[in-house]
Amino acid sequence: MRPAPTSFTLPERFPVSMKPALLIARRLTAPVLADARRDFDIVESGPGDIDTAETVRLLRETGAPALVFSSNVRLDAATIAALPETLKIAATCSVGFDHIDVAAAARKGLPVTNTPGTLDECTADHAFMLLLAAARRARAYIAMVDAGGGRVLQLDEMLGLRVSGKVLGIVGMGRIGRAMAARARGFGMSVVYTGRTRLPPALEQGALFFEDFRAMLGAADFVSLHAPGGPTTNGMIDRAAIAGMRRGAVLINTARGSLIDEDALIEALQDGQLFAAGIDVWNDEPAVNPRLVALPNVIMTPHMASATRETRDAMGFRALANIRAVLSGRPPIDPLTTG
Ligand code: DGY
Repeated sequence: MRPAPTSFTLPERFPVSMKPALLIARRLTAPVLADARRDFDIVESGPGDIDTAETVRLLRETGAPALVFSSNVRLDAATIAALPETLKIAATCSVGFDHIDVAAAARKGLPVTNTPGTLDECTADHAFMLLLAAARRARAYIAMVDAGGGRVLQLDEMLGLRVSGKVLGIVGMGRIGRAMAARARGFGMSVVYTGRTRLPPALEQGALFFEDFRAMLGAADFVSLHAPGGPTTNGMIDRAAIAGMRRGAVLINTARGSLIDEDALIEALQDGQLFAAGIDVWNDEPAVNPRLVALPNVIMTPHMASATRETRDAMGFRALANIRAVLSGRPPIDPLTTG
């Protein structure tokens, strides 16, 4: 009788990959991609991002069990129904998930995950940068210098707003909202907030809770939005809400464009109801509303609040961690649920 083999190695001339395939629909940072290559056969989709239709096509063609994507792919109910059964996990490389129909994914039994906790500090930094830039008219000053400067401004000319001693109103006091509150306190501001529920004192850190969202708007000199996108927040900053804000207030949005009625915002910026706005997200991204960007009291950045090397790496690694968990039979770390 022949002895049982103790080990078995595939001859090199038959290189069979035992790695699962991973479709990357949105380009990841180099360190994350290098890490992904160690455990996965990457389905190359070209140098840039791919759209929803191409994502579905490649998943069908390759049978890849894992997908990493972001808001470039809309997983609505119809798309989820069209996904092949071979797909075992769809990991969005984002915290927001308003591009995913979570209930439809649950009905299909497809785990979907996000990357909570990876971008709180950098998003709050960016929101505070916009707050300072809007209050201190950074866009107008930079435009003046870029145009060659050449004139001493008068003592009463192009004045901004002082930030310290003012009240910051935060809509949505989750992790990012609280990181924003910490920055505001460091700048000598006091904080009021509104959200689904009142936080325990250890998390409030002295911030004043308003159950009534509109009452909070009226109590703040600056308002920063940190609520998720979706049907419950759609258009919450409408004409009436803006009218209820303090005259000359400043509005900051690093959450989702859908929260704001853009026409109402433009009118308020034109007639002085709002002194300025700092906007990282808007409707119809990436196209910019020319009426909005033309206003000198708006400072806009192209949805870049999480865009630091450290945070984009952390988001990508977290998406991979979710994929590894599911493909090795463990529960996802950050499952998205309807509850
Ligand atoms: C998110 O994670 O939701 C951000 O908006 C994307 O950077």
